[in-house]
Amino acid sequence: MSEANYTVQQENASEISVAIKKPSSRYVDRLLKSKCGPDLIASGVFPNTKELTESYACLRAAEKMGEDLSDRTIQTVCVGDGSTPRTAATFAFNSGWFNHSVDPQLKLHGMHPIIHRVMMHPDKIESLTLTSEYRVIVIACHSHALLTRSLQHIHAPSIGLISMSCCVPDDLNQAPDKEYADWGCWSPHRVVRIWKEIDVARLGIAA
Ligand SMILES: C[S@@+](CC[C@H](N)C(=O)[O-])C[C@H]1O[C@@H](n2cnc3c(N)ncnc32)[C@H](O)[C@@H]1O
Repeated sequence: MSEANYTVQQENASEISVAIKKPSSRYVDRLLKSKCGPDLIASGVFPNTKELTESYACLRAAEKMGEDLSDRTIQTVCVGDGSTPRTAATFAFNSGWFNHSVDPQLKLHGMHPIIHRVMMHPDKIESLTLTSEYRVIVIACHSHALLTRSLQHIHAPSIGLISMSCCVPDDLNQAPDKEYADWGCWSPHRVVRIWKEIDVARLGIAA
């Protein structure tokens, strides 16, 4: 997906004026206005604003998918969450969902308090098998794990996927239902892809 992030405003014989698009502050504003904002900041999961906006872009994607944030049966699996469970915590504080944070670099001690409805797995997704009786939303926020590999280790009757890729491209052969650049995200890697329902059979992944 390519999108011009500048527009030529004016051009004359000696000058060209260009307006460069800048990311919005909507996710920082959202955090500041939310009841959970102070607790989420105090949890210490966010090292900086950039990471905060990336996790909130994933939360916004779940809302765009039409997911019910109050449905307590839904679980997320946040693959490649980083050294702190930042996207899992974002969902825990902003929804009723249970959240798995999966990353071999996760630090369990001394970084942040226990967060309700966040389970930390300091492992590669390939060394886990996560199972749910209900819907699971896999969230790959700049994850370096392959999407196909990640999905092979998650078993549920219904699986949705949100991906915002950076260095490791999305490797599914199923087209996303939505794809857009999220200009609330303060990273150049801001293209969000949403799959409402992963077709497990088509991907050749055993259910
Ligand atoms: C660019 S970082 C993204 C961290 C965080 N999601 C963020 O946006 O700041 C990529 C992460 O993917 C993790 N990773 C790489 N391979 C993985 C795997 N097989 N399973 C789970 N996590 C993996 C790395 O440890 C790293 O923390």
